[in-house]
Amino acid sequence: MKKNSKIKVVLVGCGAISRAWLYAATREKEIEIVGLIDIKKSNAEEKAREFKIVGAHIDTNFKEALNRLKPDAVFNCTVPEAHYETTMTALKHGCHVLVEKPLAHTLNHARKMVEQAEKSKKVLAVIQNRRYYNYIRGVQRFLISGKIGELTTVNSEFYIGAHFGGFRDQMKHVLLLDMAIHTFDMARFLTASDPLAVYCKEWNPAGSWYKYDASANAIFHMTGGLVYTYLGSWCAEGMNTTWAGNWRFIGQKGSAIWDGMNNFSAQKVVGCKGFIRKTRNLDIKFPHKKDENEGHWGLISEFLQCIKTGKKPMTSADDNIKSLAMVFAAIESAKKKKEIQIRI
Ligand SMILES: NC(=O)c1ccc[n+]([C@@H]2O[C@H](COP(=O)([O-])OP(=O)(O)OC[C@H]3O[C@@H](n4cnc5c(N)ncnc54)[C@H](O)[C@@H]3O)[C@@H](O)[C@H]2O)c1
Repeated sequence: MKKNSKIKVVLVGCGAISRAWLYAATREKEIEIVGLIDIKKSNAEEKAREFKIVGAHIDTNFKEALNRLKPDAVFNCTVPEAHYETTMTALKHGCHVLVEKPLAHTLNHARKMVEQAEKSKKVLAVIQNRRYYNYIRGVQRFLISGKIGELTTVNSEFYIGAHFGGFRDQMKHVLLLDMAIHTFDMARFLTASDPLAVYCKEWNPAGSWYKYDASANAIFHMTGGLVYTYLGSWCAEGMNTTWAGNWRFIGQKGSAIWDGMNNFSAQKVVGCKGFIRKTRNLDIKFPHKKDENEGHWGLISEFLQCIKTGKKPMTSADDNIKSLAMVFAAIESAKKKKEIQIRI
């Protein structure tokens, strides 16, 4: 690829989330969308019209489109079950790939995808867009500053009564596989720790509109002796949390609570006497919005830079697989009703 030439991109899977990608991609000067592919042609045609993408090749056959267009990169927005095949095909065609979460539908597939990316010497990264929000970055910086001491315990709660329709209604482990991956990845990012073991219970609440389990509670043992607990449901009507969830961080010198957006409070212990020790409130400085790119767009920009510079994106698949391993270990624990050691 020439230094100043545009990066030719084919986007595969033109469903709901592709809008977030195309919004960013059509504003990025370095990108030329050369193809829009979907097994349902009308979805690709609709997105071409909506985003005024003139001249892009529209197809239902991904392999043929890759042979014909020879793109530099593929944006993979297909459903989770199709991530493995489409990503492997793209890597084998010499393309860098940015794929929607979850990286793969099985851990074995994810391992093969990481191996193939190394073999093809291409960037393979996952849209773990929450890492690219200013609020989470602000909280992460606060936590690593050590103001509340070394973290010992982290709790997160995710409760949203989401009526999607579509593939999720029939998806096994829908909460853990399709959504908890975001929260688990956030836990790794916020605490700078990696998973060692998990005990999980998964269930489908009475009255659920999902076919399979839409609620789960999990306790993870993380590196550094940290315990991280996850409570979640996609089938909880009313009193919804934010999409990033509610969080409590307990350090050796204080605690912090966060609503996943801009409500963050923290207290540091300053006294050394009394039943409840005296505390002082701590401030947090969230970065100004323009300091860092947000969400999908931020990740897409970083991916483009990494293609050019050869650097690894923060959500490179060989690191992201650790977040995915949390998901599959939680599923295995729920099935076997016992604690599972996490191996990548
Ligand atoms: N990062 C986020 O915040 C976020 C949010 C929503 C969805 N997602 C993820 O995005 C992905 C897609 O979700 P969605 O809500 O857009 O689903 P969707 O069903 O609306 O769209 C998926 C599209 O992929 C197409 N498709 C399926 N298999 C294909 C294949 N083999 N080749 C080509 N096209 C194929 C479908 O026809 C459909 O148009 C999922 O992995 C989902 O978890 C991520």
